[in-house]
Formats: sequence, structure tokens, C-alpha cells
Amino acid sequence: MTSNDNDGMPTFSGDEKNGHGDEHSTFRICCIGAGYVGGPTCAIIASKCPHIKVTVVDVSADRIAAWNSDHLPLFEPGLEDIIKTIRNRNLFFSTDTKKAIQEADLIFISVNTPTKSYGFGNGRAPDLRYVEEAARQIAHTATSNKIVVEKSTVPVNAAESIKTILKTNKQPGVCYQVLSNPEFLAEGSAICDLLAPDRVLIGGDESIDGSLAIKKLSWVYEHWVPKERILTTNTWSSELSKLVANAFLAQRISSINTISAVCEATGASVSEVAKAVGLDSRIGSKFLNASVGFGGSCFQKDVYNLIYLAESLKLEPVAQYWLQVIKINDWQRERFAHMIVQNLFGSVSGKKIAILGFAFKKDTADTRESSSIYVCRYLLAEGASLHIYDPKVSMQRIFLDLSEQTGKSEAELRNHVRIATDAYEAAKESHALVICTEWDEFKKLDYPLIYSTMKKPSFIFDGRIILDHDQLISLGFNVFCIGQKPPINKYLNQSPR
Ligand code: UDX
Ligand code: ADP
Repeated sequence: MTSNDNDGMPTFSGDEKNGHGDEHSTFRICCIGAGYVGGPTCAIIASKCPHIKVTVVDVSADRIAAWNSDHLPLFEPGLEDIIKTIRNRNLFFSTDTKKAIQEADLIFISVNTPTKSYGFGNGRAPDLRYVEEAARQIAHTATSNKIVVEKSTVPVNAAESIKTILKTNKQPGVCYQVLSNPEFLAEGSAICDLLAPDRVLIGGDESIDGSLAIKKLSWVYEHWVPKERILTTNTWSSELSKLVANAFLAQRISSINTISAVCEATGASVSEVAKAVGLDSRIGSKFLNASVGFGGSCFQKDVYNLIYLAESLKLEPVAQYWLQVIKINDWQRERFAHMIVQNLFGSVSGKKIAILGFAFKKDTADTRESSSIYVCRYLLAEGASLHIYDPKVSMQRIFLDLSEQTGKSEAELRNHVRIATDAYEAAKESHALVICTEWDEFKKLDYPLIYSTMKKPSFIFDGRIILDHDQLISLGFNVFCIGQKPPINKYLNQSPR
């Protein structure tokens, strides 16, 4: 890379033929932010590009220590094996941000971008302070030209903000190209998603320097992603596409969840409807599983991002349209909690309820925006005593989340919440079993045993439609499920076994 500093952006020359120069020369990547996006993404890049040195840095020394230990800071199927093979070979985890920035050719910004919880745009607008801080760190530290890539989910126009910060704070003679390269991985399947992505999206400036920077990042992905799957666009399209992809996925879930309510009130089954509808190749079968509501760090945040953008552009009908996706999700969570209270004879006060699953989906320990938290909050407000079990989420995390949601201290919560070490312990002497996360192990539990230890009548509320309801009914359970009319009342069949 060489500099031709007209507007603070570089001219990348010397490797015009292929955009990357000598493949075996040492190309260095720095990733700022060792979270759910930065960690797995860099692990795959390092494993597929052995000659590229990848350093992932984070402000949290604890997080970096965990990445360097046998207990990774996050659970992702397949990740641990990959990390073990390449850690300290060409993948490094460090707190030395300065060094990693200085030696890098390309820098990913993968920091957290939560929804603002204060001031203007409270609860709607994205909080870009971590992105801004990362950009400032780069500008103050870098002494040579860099390609800076926004990887975190950011609002449209964030690349412009990053550019401005870099340009106005840069060291003399240093040039930057800023690209947008949104990540589409889903937690729990991150490794598969990264290894075989539907597409890799790269947005950049429509200039010679911009296209050279795009070429360079494409070259990294071309080590394992077929070229035709690498899509290049202008920066705005790339940033907006990420928001739209997540908004469309969230919208599908809210759509099927509205139908689940119709099914419960009629004789239809939401699973049958979803199957029949999804077989239409124009609609497709994915993301049509009705549930207790979508969670995770992205969907709600990105839909709010889109709403905020529409509001800022004075496109009120657009904002209102997308707001419904969130409202239906909130309603679904509340509706499910209400279904539980109503069917437990109108009161759960003092009743023991077993909550199975606290993560926002299976195969992750992540609880951000998990519907389970909301269901627990509603039940606690009704005076229930909760016994929570999740295969991966820690006790500390559960209390932190519930404290945040209810405003109660851990000590206060401990009067009403216990964390169980398995599903059987949670279910023992409970009135009801509530499935909030679709963990595979919940499908294989010994339900006759569970039934024998529960209070009678025994209830199961399946918020994920994963259990064999006919079998459970034959055991004597009263089964209530999202998207299905409740079966015949079985109370009369139930006597303690
Ligand atoms: C999502 C996007 O899928 C991914 O492309 C993006 O990069 C990040 O956001 P993630 O949040 O990790 O990924 O998980 P995802 O599998 O999309 O599930 C999100 C939520 O929707 C979960 O709570 C899940 O249980 C729920 N869901 C998903 C449903 O309720 N029904 C479905 O049919 C699918
Ligand atoms: P995501 O799901 O988007 O990956 P996470 O919250 O899991 O988000 O990870 C973001 C990480 O970025 C956190 O570990 C946080 O400590 C880190 N981080 C935030 N700001 C900076 C910064 N300026 N420098 C280094 N790391 C940062």
C-alpha cells in the first residue's frame, strides 16, 4: 500500500494485478473485540489462511485470558477444536491493542453495538460509543496505512462516521480505506455459517482505492469461499442489507407467531400450517418455527435500527410497519406467560414452576434478549417460585439477567428463584414444566420419571413445539403448546402415581 493523500484515504498500489500481492508475504489482521462475532470469525480466517497472522484484541483482560485458556468465554459447537489447533500458531488473543493495530494491514472492528439506553433515541437508536472509541484508538495508534472493516452490526452511515473520525485524528501521512463487511453468522451454527456462508458481503467506496481495498478483503475470503458468493456493493447497500436481512428474518418469526395465536383459538396446528406454507418454493421452509418469541443480540436491535433510520428519514409508515414486528414479539412472550397462569387455575402464586432453558436458542450460552428472561419476569410478578435449568447458562448469568429485568437484587431473587443442576431436579415437586429453549436434551428426558415426581395435575407448557405431545398426554400430563388448541382436559385421569 502506498499513500496518495488527497482526502485522507489511501491509494493502494503495488499489487494491482491481483489486489493482494504475494500470497505468501505476511499479511496481518487485527480484530478489535473478542466477542461472539470477532472470536469465531477470526478463528475461521486463521484456520483457512495459515500464512495470515490474526490477532484478536479486547479491553477485557478476563475475556482474553479465557480465549487463551481451556475454557473459552463462549460456547459454540466446533469452535474449541479449531482454536486448539491454531491458537499461538497464526491466531493470537491479546490485550495489547496498540501493537496489534500498528502491525496490522487490515483491522476488523467487532465491538458491541447495543441499543441506546439513555438520552436521544433511548431504546431505539444504536449506541455507537464503542465503535467510535475503536476508531479513535486506530487513528491515534496507526503509523501506516490500514484497511478498516466494520464487522459489528452498525447503523447505516456508520462507515461515514468511522471515516470522519479516522480522517480528523490520523497520524500524518497515514491513509485509510473503510469497508463494511457485515457478519451473518448465527450463534450455535457459527462455524458452519462461517465455513459455508450463503454470501460474503463487502461494501466500499466506489473509487479505485475503494475497489482495491475490497479486492484485498475478498482475497482473504477467497481462501475458502467461492468467488461467486462474494458480493460487493457500495457501503450504504452493504450496511442496509445487514439490517434488512435480520429484519426480514425477525418479521418471518413474528408473522408465524401471529398465526400461532390463530391456531390456538381454532383447530389448526401451526406446525402443519408452517409446513404447508413453507413448501411453496417462493416462501421457503426456513424460519417458520413458531416460538415463545425471538431473542438474541441482533434481531430486536436491528429492527430498532431500521425503525430509527426510518424515523430519522421522516418515513413514519415504514417505522410503524417494522415496529409491529417487535410488538408482536413482546406480545408473544406475554401471551405465553399468560397461558401458563391461566391454565394453572388463574394463579401461580407460591407454585413451583420448572423453567427449562434460559439461553435465547439452543447450542449457545448467550442469554441476550432471551424470551426466557421475559417469561420468568412475568411469572415472578405473579408470585411464582422458579426452578431454572439450562445446560449451558451459568447461575451468575441467570441472576444478573433477572436482576436487570426485575430491578431486584440477587438476594431478593433468591427467595423465589433456584437454579437446578438438571431438568429432573428442576421438575421435582413442580406444578408445571415450561420449555423456553429448544435444547435437544429436553426431547430425550425420562418423562414418565418426571411425571412421577411432579405435583398433580401436572402441566407442560411447550414454548418451542419440540416435545411428543401425544406421549406426554398418554402419561397423564396436561399439555399446552404454542400454536395448538389445547387437547382434551385430562385432569380426571390424574392421580398421584
Ligand atoms: C441472527 C441471524 O440469523 C444472523 O444471520 C445474524 O448474523 C445475527 O442474528 P442469531 O440471533 O444468532 O442470528 O440466531 P437465529 O438463529 O437467527 O435465532 C434468533 C432467534 O429467533 C432465536 O431466539 C431463535 O430461537 C428464534 N427463532 C429462529 C424462532 O423463534 N423461530 C425460527 O423459525 C427461527
Ligand atoms: P458481538 O456479539 O457483536 O461480538 P460482544 O459483546 O460479544 O459483541 O463482543 C464485543 C467485544 O468487544 C467485548 O468483549 C468488548 O469488551 C469488546 N470491546 C468493546 N470496545 C472495545 C475496544 N475499544 N477495544 C477492544 N475491545 C473492545
